[in-house]
Amino acid sequence: MSAVADPRPDDESARVGIPAARRPGMRPEAPWDDPALGDIIVPAGELQDRIAVLGAAITADYARRPPLLVGVLKGACIFLSDLARAIALPVEMDFMAVSSYGTATRTSGVVRIVKDLDLDLSGRHVLIVEDIVDSGLTLSFLRRNLAARHPASLSVCALLVKEGLQSTPLDLSYEGFRIPPEFVVGYGLDVAERYRNLPFICEYLEGEPPDVAAPS
Ligand code: IMP
Ligand code: MG
Repeated sequence: MSAVADPRPDDESARVGIPAARRPGMRPEAPWDDPALGDIIVPAGELQDRIAVLGAAITADYARRPPLLVGVLKGACIFLSDLARAIALPVEMDFMAVSSYGTATRTSGVVRIVKDLDLDLSGRHVLIVEDIVDSGLTLSFLRRNLAARHPASLSVCALLVKEGLQSTPLDLSYEGFRIPPEFVVGYGLDVAERYRNLPFICEYLEGEPPDVAAPS
């Protein structure tokens, strides 16, 4: 499966198929004008435009083998809801929740399954749907864990990838945006369970969030 083509051929980032997101100075407006929030990294409209592109690519790639979408709770719930509606195939969905130990802003790579899947993956075309890849450790755990359940195929769709932080190649079939290596919230992403319902992705400014080992 190939990387997703971007519809804007003049854009340098379109050459590699993945838009680089950054909107310096674009601030959240009321009712989201919270001083803990920094610049908007991906506006709501661009999220929806990119998800339409990803959905069309997945529809084409999986035409004769509708995928089982595996959403990683809680962060991917909003992305998965929109992505599934952008895929014109009879997809199925299942969810798992993992907890990564470490601080709220940095995982240690020690991952534990908090909620497992309901469905059997054997012989299924599985597409993992992730909110954000930071170190890549959570994803590499998930990939190893799900591959051991004998799916017919296993691919990954991640909405956001932080630039320059992964030590091993990620091998993502579908990527939404490359973002700077800053802590971000919104569109499913939280800090201490807040801000998941922002319709855009923005920087989180206010200090180090408290240590947690909660489902991501
Ligand atoms: P990784 O294992 O370092 O790649 O971290 C992946 C998980 O950490 C994601 O699924 C998120 O739940 C969480 N995470 C990483 N970066 C951020 C962020 O900037 N904001 C909110 N959650 C994040
Ligand atoms: Mg999280």
